[in-house]
Amino acid sequence: MTRAASLKSKEADATKSGRVMIADDEPINIKLIQKYLRSSGYHDFVTTSESREVVDLVRSTRPDILVLDVVMPHVTGLDILETIRNTPDQSHLPVLIVTASTDEQTKIDALELGATDFLHKPVKPTELLPRVRNSLVLKAHHDQMAAYSKRLEAEVAQRTADLAQSREEVIHVLACAAEYRDQETGNHVIRVGRFAGIIARELGCSESDSELIEHAAILHDAGKIGIADSILLKPGKLSQDEFAMMKRHCEFGEKILKAQPSDESEPFLLHSRRPVTRSPVLRMASVIAKTHHERWDGTGYPGQLAGEEIPIVGRITAVADVFDALSSKRCYKDALPLDQCIAIMRKERGKHFDPKVLDAFLSRLDEVKQIVVSLADQ
Ligand SMILES: [Fe+2]
Repeated sequence: MTRAASLKSKEADATKSGRVMIADDEPINIKLIQKYLRSSGYHDFVTTSESREVVDLVRSTRPDILVLDVVMPHVTGLDILETIRNTPDQSHLPVLIVTASTDEQTKIDALELGATDFLHKPVKPTELLPRVRNSLVLKAHHDQMAAYSKRLEAEVAQRTADLAQSREEVIHVLACAAEYRDQETGNHVIRVGRFAGIIARELGCSESDSELIEHAAILHDAGKIGIADSILLKPGKLSQDEFAMMKRHCEFGEKILKAQPSDESEPFLLHSRRPVTRSPVLRMASVIAKTHHERWDGTGYPGQLAGEEIPIVGRITAVADVFDALSSKRCYKDALPLDQCIAIMRKERGKHFDPKVLDAFLSRLDEVKQIVVSLADQ
């Protein structure tokens, strides 16, 4: 026996365990078909002579092939075929149409509805057996492909989840690297991300955009990595020059995150030969890093942008960042009580903050308070 023939024979043997459903209003026809198939090794049968039961039986017994009479009382075989083809998880079921009719139109209708093959009454074993076997081989291939594709989908979903998790971890590590020297801030960056996400949802952003800003806002101060310890860790008030340098953390953050090629006069840290960042979260983080100290009234930095000139993600992060600075302890101040923080924030409505962004934040104070408690600094 050739290799191909041996493979074919193995496939045919494997189909003998397939479940065959036979639907015919004449019990004698069912018995005949069952007899032929049984003598050829098939043993798993579901049968019915009640046309109204067929669709439910297909659903509950999940046969591997349906041998279906056309002319039956109540529901015709063609109606049943149409229902099966329109049912997503049954649409690939092989259906052998059995008909006594020689009418060409019945054949055309059945083919258009997706019949797999035809058998003419009286059914002959020489016609029945190869058709059943071939249909079952095809069904087995289809099932294998479907199982493989399901496995593949599960693997892709797992890999995607792993990637998303590692992306979050990288963002946290990068944010922590910037915050590491500024140890007083503890969970600050994570809280700012959460507050930003809450505001975005309240403003009607989609869940995926809200998650994006939640991750991106974590990196708002990534540019502090470019600020000297003598300024960043200075306990007293900064001089004018020192404050001017401190303000540059916005542009440093923007450039680190966007990775634009920069000119040689800039700090070495910002020199980069890597291409401009394409990751949506880093691109958004770059905008946030640049604009989170801008103020609605145009008195912020570095660009003195005003109103809607300030990208919305910068306006959102400004509210989140200032609230967190007020409500948490720093080396130079104690944490303020929440009602005092809120009173200060309200006074800045339309000055420091975009009124609608502040309102969104204030309308979700229950969630904000939960985060203040659950992510409190140790
Ligand atoms: Fe900042």
